[in-house]
Amino acid sequence: MSDSHPATNQSFYDRISHAYDLISDAGEHKARERGEQALSVMEGERVLEIGFGTGNTMIHLATAVGESGCVSGIDVSPGMLAVATKKLAAKGFSGRVDLCVGDARKLPYEDNSFDAVFASFTLELFPPEDIPEVLSEIARVLKPGGRIGVVSMATVKEGQTPSELEKTYIWMHEHFPHIVDCQPIDVVQLVSDAGLNVQQEIEMTIWSMPVRCVVATVA
Ligand SMILES: C[S@@+](CC[C@H](N)C(=O)[O-])C[C@H]1O[C@@H](n2cnc3c(N)ncnc32)[C@H](O)[C@@H]1O
Repeated sequence: MSDSHPATNQSFYDRISHAYDLISDAGEHKARERGEQALSVMEGERVLEIGFGTGNTMIHLATAVGESGCVSGIDVSPGMLAVATKKLAAKGFSGRVDLCVGDARKLPYEDNSFDAVFASFTLELFPPEDIPEVLSEIARVLKPGGRIGVVSMATVKEGQTPSELEKTYIWMHEHFPHIVDCQPIDVVQLVSDAGLNVQQEIEMTIWSMPVRCVVATVA
């Protein structure tokens, strides 16, 4: 784990947890839901979400796994946990979800536990040197043949020019990381470097900035 960038954007997410859906959801929900769809969670599966935020995806995953499946979630922010717990209870899903506060760099789950793992707009929050650790933890907790679905802000493809907004976003992350806490990543390369087999890539944009969804499997 990087010492220069400890786990704790926790206090930032605690502070914005009650307003997160208003601040971010309008821009992000389509891409997130496209990623959920690509992961194709099925009835009876055991699924993990990393960085579950306000719990919107947890509701969809809990619906997809049905009564015979279960969904676990880990998020570093107790504030997000409180918002998500309330939302899931209101939908009647408390019995099939298991949420915890923790750091995705050290997942508190046994090896080979999950059929699928999902993460949206979370992997790119980690310092670049820690992303392989997160992906290796995900691979560890997936069952053989298990699937990972990641949706993230993405680097522009080779030969493409970043939009002015994209350049500003990167500049803001470099100079004011406490305000813009994530940076675009080459998510397909990272997933592939982690030894996962990329099955599907989906290109999207949010306000002219590239967003990529990748679905991959473990051997
Ligand atoms: C940008 S939000 C995305 C939330 C949700 N996945 C969505 O798409 O709406 C990132 C989430 O990751 C969580 N997070 C940040 N660092 C984390 C870490 N080290 N381990 C686990 N979760 C983390 C934050 O608390 C926050 O809920």
